[in-house]
Amino acid sequence: MKKTIRDYDLTGKKVIIRVDFNVPIKDGIIKDDNRIIESLSTINYAIEHGAKIILMSHLGRIKEDADKLKNTLEPVSRRLAELINKDVVFINETRGEKLETAINNLQNGDVLLMENTRFEDLDGKKESKNDSELGEYWSSLGDIYINDAFGTAHRSHASNVGIASHLPNGVGFLIEAELREFAKVTDNPERPYTVILGGSKVSDKIEVIRHLAETADTILIGGGMMFTFLKAQGYEIGKSLLEEDFIDFCKEMLDKYPNKII
Ligand code: 3PG
Repeated sequence: MKKTIRDYDLTGKKVIIRVDFNVPIKDGIIKDDNRIIESLSTINYAIEHGAKIILMSHLGRIKEDADKLKNTLEPVSRRLAELINKDVVFINETRGEKLETAINNLQNGDVLLMENTRFEDLDGKKESKNDSELGEYWSSLGDIYINDAFGTAHRSHASNVGIASHLPNGVGFLIEAELREFAKVTDNPERPYTVILGGSKVSDKIEVIRHLAETADTILIGGGMMFTFLKAQGYEIGKSLLEEDFIDFCKEMLDKYPNKII
């Protein structure tokens, strides 16, 4: 079993916690703070155990400079401060002296939130392509790395895989709970065992689909990725989302499991 935050002595340690604060924000107002609330158990545990907490998260996709304005984590830092009833040091940078000084000034139990990790995507997609220099740099800011961002755990980004490859690491309570739920169905599933899969990209989920196709009785495919499957079956899909390079994979799965994948 993966190590968890409970396996580490956090007192006085700089603990980087990768959270998923990818919340809907319109005109600076958070429309749904559920993801922030869900992250509180891990953050509060780290506070109670005297960690110096460095929070990292992505927010939206950053393709051009203008995307930065609507995807700053600043409103999230304010909402988080209300929820934990404690100051949150917000640093509007993803690297540099200001960030490093603020981290060095943290006292046990303090919480810092770094600006959106995907701001690094403006310069060669460094976050999303897991740039090795960036992962190493972020890892140099902490002593321990805890991943609690389940929504991006399938991605190989600098803020998860990149940092984790340089630091002692583990998962937070949210990912631990998700893994526990997974184990219930994947280790010894009650049958019939039906999986409903969605999301936009087949490419992200190839290994998951391969694995589930062996164990599940039925796989219902929805979301954007169903169009690549429909194309593989010979249907016209108009302008719908298509991953051309993965049509062959979809064909292979449909041929191998003709009655399973719907
Ligand atoms: C989500 O909202 O699904 C997660 O935060 C992942 O976001 P992403 O698809 O932009 O990586």
